[in-house]
Amino acid sequence: ASIDTQGMSGPDVTGEGVRRRDFINIAAVSFAGVGGVAVLLPLVSQMAPSADVLAESSTEIDISAIQPGQAIKAVFRKQPVFIRNLTKEEIASAEKVDVSSLRDPQSLEERTKEGKTNWLITMGVCTHLGCVPLGAGEGEVKGEFGGYFCPCHGSSYDTAARIRKGPAPKNLEVPPYEFASDTVVKIG
Ligand code: FES
Repeated sequence: ASIDTQGMSGPDVTGEGVRRRDFINIAAVSFAGVGGVAVLLPLVSQMAPSADVLAESSTEIDISAIQPGQAIKAVFRKQPVFIRNLTKEEIASAEKVDVSSLRDPQSLEERTKEGKTNWLITMGVCTHLGCVPLGAGEGEVKGEFGGYFCPCHGSSYDTAARIRKGPAPKNLEVPPYEFASDTVVKIG
């Protein structure tokens, strides 16, 4: 005996309607999956350093050759670190800013070591989506606030590497560090 299903189900539940809708659903899921992975991979590779990278507990950097107004890019745990020797003008420029007006309110003093406010040490990783800002050697592009400029989406950081303009939500992060001597910085 055959069962007559006519009239028992709507047009979208049987036959061509189902197959086409399933295909569209699968295609949409696959697309989201691929897109998600493509977007996440660079972030994951930055956010989850491998074991041997994490094993690097600290690194020492000779800063004796960095003149006032110069910045260098060092590397710690495979990520760039900016070490900048601020000029008196750059210090004055950072100190005259009304801290409470900042997106991520921090004074230069809070971001440097006591008695060494000229040494600004930050991660060279934009807090928007992780690009490496310019201003630590590469053609000296510093942006309109005199610090660093991120070419990816135009975030500008000031002479204390605080976010002043553009999409980045936070100041460039200050890593744990200490002065091993007047000319050597130990990061980590
Ligand atoms: Fe720097 Fe977007 S990653 S502004």
